Amino acid sequence: MDCLREIEGKQAHDPIFIEKMSKLSLPSSLPRCVYFPGSLIVGAGPSGLAAAACLKDKGVPSVVLERSNCIASLWQLKTYDRLHLHLPKQFCELPLMGFPTHFLTYPTKQQFVDYLESYARRFDIRPRFDETVSRAEYDSTIGFWRVTSVGLKGKKTEYVCRWLVVATGENAEAVVPEIEGMREFGGDIRHTSLYKSGEEFRGKRVLVVGCGNSGMEVCLDLCNHNAKPSLVVRDTVHVLPREMLGRSTFGLSMWLLKWLPMRLVDRLLLIVSWLMIGDTTRFGLDRPRLGPLQLKNLSGKTPVLDVGTLAKIKSGDIKVRPSIKRLKRHAVEFVNGKTENFDAIIFATGYKSNVPSWLKERKMFSEKDGYPRRPFPNGWKGECGLYAVGFTKRGLLGTSMDALRIAEDIQRCWKQESKHHYFWHQSSSP
Ligand SMILES: Cc1cc2nc3c(=O)[nH]c(=O)nc-3n(C[C@H](O)[C@H](O)[C@H](O)COP(=O)(O)OP(=O)(O)OC[C@H]3O[C@@H](n4cnc5c(N)ncnc54)[C@H](O)[C@@H]3O)c2cc1C
Ligand SMILES: NC(=O)c1ccc[n+]([C@@H]2O[C@H](COP(=O)([O-])OP(=O)(O)OC[C@H]3O[C@@H](n4cnc5c(N)ncnc54)[C@H](OP(=O)(O)O)[C@@H]3O)[C@@H](O)[C@H]2O)c1
Repeated sequence: MDCLREIEGKQAHDPIFIEKMSKLSLPSSLPRCVYFPGSLIVGAGPSGLAAAACLKDKGVPSVVLERSNCIASLWQLKTYDRLHLHLPKQFCELPLMGFPTHFLTYPTKQQFVDYLESYARRFDIRPRFDETVSRAEYDSTIGFWRVTSVGLKGKKTEYVCRWLVVATGENAEAVVPEIEGMREFGGDIRHTSLYKSGEEFRGKRVLVVGCGNSGMEVCLDLCNHNAKPSLVVRDTVHVLPREMLGRSTFGLSMWLLKWLPMRLVDRLLLIVSWLMIGDTTRFGLDRPRLGPLQLKNLSGKTPVLDVGTLAKIKSGDIKVRPSIKRLKRHAVEFVNGKTENFDAIIFATGYKSNVPSWLKERKMFSEKDGYPRRPFPNGWKGECGLYAVGFTKRGLLGTSMDALRIAEDIQRCWKQESKHHYFWHQSSSP
């Protein structure tokens, strides 16, 4: 590997090699080719921004490619109005810049977006918007990554770079299950990524499918707008109060884990939850056999942090229903044989990574789920200058840890290949 790095380092400032690369600038019908002597980051969400800021802090240039027309597109374009961070702000800060002190403990979506905007300004991160990465492959003959992006009107650009940082997120694409009769259903069907507010569902019977944090919160929002929501719960789920014993449940868990084994912390969390919210099984929400932290650790399944939905389930304002068997024109048949009429269906069935669709690499990333094969904390680094930020199943806390590690690692190589700096100052940015 070191030998490979040395060759690559030499190539990067070898005039013959550079001339060869520039000849890759092909006729206009073929992709424009840009050689970039730093890191190329795919995705301008919190993870991409954090990686770019940490690299900048280490003196390594980077370019960020983003498929949409703004930073943090998940937060700006695909989340509902009432959203707040569900972890206290100290667990959601990106590296090198904290939240302003006047922010709420659980910042609103707008506060979080404002923070990310000022973060990008502070580190002078200017992503190249409307560029969707459609392919990235390591070219071992030249020792660089070739990354193809498709811009507006289908304009293709090929970037040739030394380091590739994948920051496209765990929530890149909405997951919508295929259900019998879906095309027959006459009402509105949408995924939570297209849900903004319960306002447009006022007075309507709405079936929300999936009881993760999105499904639970959307149900609450629908209730608050006088809609009539029902919630499909197909499996067991851990619902915990967002706060317990005067602290955030997440903060308390982190603190307890310093002293106690995970199994014991799980026990404590479940006892306190039981005292605070009672036995959730009574309302149709059976708990998994494993405790919330163990389950998260083993399967990545996030516990639901309750912000008021459970009270609405208890009061009967939100009805719990089993899995769907099939959809009809204006009705839903459930697996228990019962049928009910609905005006709309909202799929809160989660998201998936899109990495396998564009990254031609199978060693670091699993083709099956688009996550790094090596679990946290070892999933951030692959081979030949490939990195992943934000695939830890640990939210923004995991993002920060990845970004710091990646920047340190790339800086080490960058220093070894220090003449890059000279080349960087000589060449114009892409
Ligand atoms: C409703 C909701 C609430 C959440 N709340 C919290 C919370 O409170 N705390 C927490 O820690 N986490 C939360 N999360 C998890 C969330 O994933 C992280 O907060 C954060 O957004 C992850 O950042 P990211 O940059 O890794 O991914 P994203 O925010 O998804 O950003 C990835 C970016 O990559 C871009 N992209 C994707 N594919 C391509 C491509 N091929 N080419 C170019 N660009 C591409 C996308 O457009 C996007 O802008 C929440 C998630 C959801 C859905
Ligand atoms: N306030 C906040 O900060 C906030 C709000 C919302 C979301 N989030 C975060 O955003 C991420 C995504 O959350 P999410 O709730 O959108 O997705 P999620 O956590 O993946 O939950 C999806 C839910 O849909 C269920 N489901 C999937 N397919 C189904 C089907 N065919 N029929 C019935 N149920 C089905 C799943 O059940 P199974 O478990 O049985 O698969 C699961 O309960 C998570 O990290 C979450 O914590 C945070």
